[in-house]
Amino acid sequence: MNQHHWTIIGISAAAGLFVLILSDGALTGSRKNGFASLKKGEDIYLAACASCHGVDGRGNDRSSVAFEKALPDFSDCAFTSRETTADWVGIATHGGPVKAFSPLMPAFGDALSRNQLEKAVAHVKKFCPKKKWPQGEFNLPKALNTGKAFPENEVAWSLSCTVEEPVTIGGKFVVARRIGARHQIEAAIPFEVKQVERERADGSTATRWGEGAGDMAVAWKSVLWHSQRIGNIASVTLDVFFPTGDEHDEISDGIFAFEPAFAMGQIIAGIGFVQLQAGAELSTVPHRVPHGVFWRGAFGHTFRRGGFGRAFSPMVEVLGAKELEDGTAVEWDVVPQFQLALSQRQHIRMGLGYLIPVSDFSDRQMKVMAYLIWDWFDGGFAEGWHP
Ligand code: HEC
Repeated sequence: MNQHHWTIIGISAAAGLFVLILSDGALTGSRKNGFASLKKGEDIYLAACASCHGVDGRGNDRSSVAFEKALPDFSDCAFTSRETTADWVGIATHGGPVKAFSPLMPAFGDALSRNQLEKAVAHVKKFCPKKKWPQGEFNLPKALNTGKAFPENEVAWSLSCTVEEPVTIGGKFVVARRIGARHQIEAAIPFEVKQVERERADGSTATRWGEGAGDMAVAWKSVLWHSQRIGNIASVTLDVFFPTGDEHDEISDGIFAFEPAFAMGQIIAGIGFVQLQAGAELSTVPHRVPHGVFWRGAFGHTFRRGGFGRAFSPMVEVLGAKELEDGTAVEWDVVPQFQLALSQRQHIRMGLGYLIPVSDFSDRQMKVMAYLIWDWFDGGFAEGWHP
């Protein structure tokens, strides 16, 4: 071969390589453009999600997906309505493990833009077309005292303790279960350990320890309305208290009582949330135990690392209460507090705060208050702690 041939081979090789590089670029370009050109939520879902989750959102069966893990049914409103869009965009971006779900749920953060994933999740949400289910966005962080408007599936343990004598340690175990789209039933068992003051024969006072169950309660909650457009949800509740508590240690008044209340949650876009509750404590023996009224408010903000990470919600509550009896004053308290998600799935959360009386300090005490809640719909207590 002479130099001429080598030149021709060289040019051909270079041209071939050039064509290869170009065509490969065009190929990857077109693959990217293939996803990038998808603008409608439905098209994005069909291209990226339907191979596992099914065209109808019910999840393809095991024979067609080649893994054992059961897929969720997005047409089940009880499931699809209660999660927030932000959480699901987080899962679609970073994959199942970001909320301690299976890694079989892939991460799409590199393949699809944030905007496309939001549209895909919006399409997922449409598999539940019924509007009567309040969306997970309304499941605002639980405050220590102010009742929530959202119907829950949850188990809660709460504890409060005065910081000076006479000491009162109060605890409560509550199980709440959602019924249908808008209702909830709840049962509460309280207990108390306390120093009871008594007067000696010579007129001085002494204390002794008492302990026992408080008045058991059952409660019903119904959502009155919810509107995503204005970010508002409202409910009514009725608690019925049974005289099961210990009267001897002054833990119970030994009477039936009713507590009707109204609760409201308002999301303030970009700022935080407000929760309000107002109600009455209706005594069945008013000449001995007077009726009372109360109003409570909580204002807070939720911080999440990267928009999807563990939620931390500082809040402050203002509490007002008044016994409906002549000569009694309004009792005011403020309660700075926070709620923190403990598990990676965020279905186990704690709240911690400090109740400070701002009226009548001489008779009323400061209290440390805490709770632990387990949202059992999202997984077992031991599940979902690690990615
Ligand atoms: C390769 C199969 C596969 C693909 C593709 C897939 N998913 Fe999933 N997805 C899963 C599996 C498996 C689970 C269940 C994970 C678990 O329960 O641990 C899941 C769960 C979910 C959940 C439920 C999380 C919860 O709260 O329980 C959402 C939301 C979700 N996927 C959204 C999407 C979206 C949006 C897409 C498309 C952008 C998508 N998935 C594509 C396999 C897939």
